[in-house]
Amino acid sequence: MPAHLRITLLVDHQSTHSDLETEHGLSFLLEVNNQVLLFDAGASEAAFHNAERLGTPWRRISRIILSHGHRDHTGGLGAFLRALPEAHVYLHPRAMTPKFSVQPGKPPRTLSMPQEIHALLQARMDQLHWSTAPMRLGKGIGLTGPIPRRHPEEAVSGPFFLDSEGHTPDPLEDDQALWVATNQGLVVILGCAHSGLANTLSHIQSLTKTKSILVVVGGFHLSSASDARIQATLAALRKTDVQRVVPVHCTGHAGTSAFQEAYGDLGQALQVGEWLEFNAVH
Ligand SMILES: [Fe+2]
Ligand SMILES: [Fe+2]
Repeated sequence: MPAHLRITLLVDHQSTHSDLETEHGLSFLLEVNNQVLLFDAGASEAAFHNAERLGTPWRRISRIILSHGHRDHTGGLGAFLRALPEAHVYLHPRAMTPKFSVQPGKPPRTLSMPQEIHALLQARMDQLHWSTAPMRLGKGIGLTGPIPRRHPEEAVSGPFFLDSEGHTPDPLEDDQALWVATNQGLVVILGCAHSGLANTLSHIQSLTKTKSILVVVGGFHLSSASDARIQATLAALRKTDVQRVVPVHCTGHAGTSAFQEAYGDLGQALQVGEWLEFNAVH
């Protein structure tokens, strides 16, 4: 099992360092023993600039994982791809399809991966890995692949469509999460959790045959959620016996407050430039 894991928040909407960029986008740098991975790339080149400013070992990134195709997770990929010609990229094929936000009374908005990123990915086809099934990225580290939707109360929420007219809802089957095993339990890293938290955690527990979840970090997609949905997410966390939550990105104000209230010190958000560190107990 990996003995050391460090997760650095490269970009998100809040930072206490004025010299780091912030945006509505998400990106983490993961150091797992001697592997360096990028999990999402944010909306712009902010994640890349922050990775450099923070002195992270970004030059050693060998694998890039895309949690899904939305551009707040893929728009910043260009700088990394150009600087890392050897890196392999792990994504679901549906991450590359057109995606839109369509809301009544508002013009449709594209959420698709930018064309430039699309072209850069197509230029390295032999380094793309389509995560249409769960896969391992090393000992004690894995990707969920598509997440079965077993909890109907966790239907994809939000104005997500595959067309700009809003005819075909986007099931976001490209959504995936990453897990890393430590001796204290699993560390789960989410992009936006579009598949739902209970669905994601139960899938990871069955994939890894591990019950104990040490921490869930990432976007919980609760920014426009009802109180009932927030309570359902909290219930799912308790039911799966999650010890700590680190809400960022699309968790939203109400969701983040609910986690902080429920988990106290073990429910605090992370700021851009901060990191989490886990040492396995041998
Ligand atoms: Fe998303
Ligand atoms: Fe997002």
